[in-house]
Amino acid sequence: MPTKSKKKSKLDVENNEDPTEEAPLVMPEEEEVPEPLIEDLPGVGPATAEKLREAGFDDLLALAVMSPGDLADQAELGEAVATKIIAGAKKMANIGGFVSGGALLERRREVLKLSSKVESIDDLLGGGFETQALVEVYGAFGSGKTQIGHQLAVNCTLPMSEGGFDGDVFYIDTEDTFRPERITQMARGHGLDPDQVLSRIHVARAYNSAHQMLLVDEIKRMSKGLNVKMIIVDSLTSHFRAEFIGRGMLANRQQKLNRHLKDLKQLADVNNALVLVTNQVHSKPDAMWGDPTKPIGGHVLAHASTFRLYLRKAKGGRRIARLVDSPNLPDGECVYQVTQEGLRD
Ligand code: GTP
Ligand code: MG
Repeated sequence: MPTKSKKKSKLDVENNEDPTEEAPLVMPEEEEVPEPLIEDLPGVGPATAEKLREAGFDDLLALAVMSPGDLADQAELGEAVATKIIAGAKKMANIGGFVSGGALLERRREVLKLSSKVESIDDLLGGGFETQALVEVYGAFGSGKTQIGHQLAVNCTLPMSEGGFDGDVFYIDTEDTFRPERITQMARGHGLDPDQVLSRIHVARAYNSAHQMLLVDEIKRMSKGLNVKMIIVDSLTSHFRAEFIGRGMLANRQQKLNRHLKDLKQLADVNNALVLVTNQVHSKPDAMWGDPTKPIGGHVLAHASTFRLYLRKAKGGRRIARLVDSPNLPDGECVYQVTQEGLRD
């Protein structure tokens, strides 16, 4: 995996915060080796490629891990063709490799932590929301997922010395619940100039899951010249859930979601940024999706998230956040409040 040194933002350079550290005039370009496409596989012409894409297989890794029978079924191909495609994908897919623990530690040293400015939440997370990570916030309607998204978007623009990233935020809004007025309130809550904060939060409304996925490419395109430090998808799963209904669509939905999460994670890695996604819990106890307190998205999302926070309401307008899944922190809970000025202890 290519490592990349921490990007210095234009602002850092202009403010000349650290005069001892010379900012390079030209950033070395990320070495981009184009990933092979499914059309590059032996025996895959345009018609087969289209069938594969329609079935949700749009990259080699997704094909490499399939069994011939399942692939033949899902993409409506002959089993012999499927076998050949899988063999080709295994050879050409970038399966990744092993790197030394030392190299990983080096990369971990670049990790930054975004403060929620709520002590109990930061403590729960070992200091804040980490970059190079995908954080999933899930909970029932009104549990405060969107409030966390708004608050962290504001905090991301705070200077590093105040627990922020002095960064730009991309916000993908799938439910039309982004409110600039709320950003204004929260910015004032931190004594920030609301207009300045709003100018650093770039919002797009996603109309369906395909559009939502395309918007990630748009972030890559738009991010030049910006100090992208946070990407929010609120909600990650609502379109997928509404569009892919029933067992028959499940595999397809999960493949698309997987692709989307991979793209988001890549943005987190390349920019040393934080990705925050929100997710709902199963709302109908009798639904085929199962347990009403479990997040939707299944194993695909469970594996992609680095941290999972489960939000719920408590008595007296208080909120409880439970850390459910973390690679290096104990599970635990904290209590906080949502106020007019934002999240508070
Ligand atoms: P869904 O998107 O419907 O699944 O819910 P959500 O988890 O995103 O909930 P959201 O973050 O929208 O939380 C809404 C709740 O936040 C409201 O019911 C209020 O309790 C609280 N809230 C929102 N704005 C304010 C505010 O200005 N002041 C206060 N005190 N509370 C607020
Ligand atoms: Mg919401």
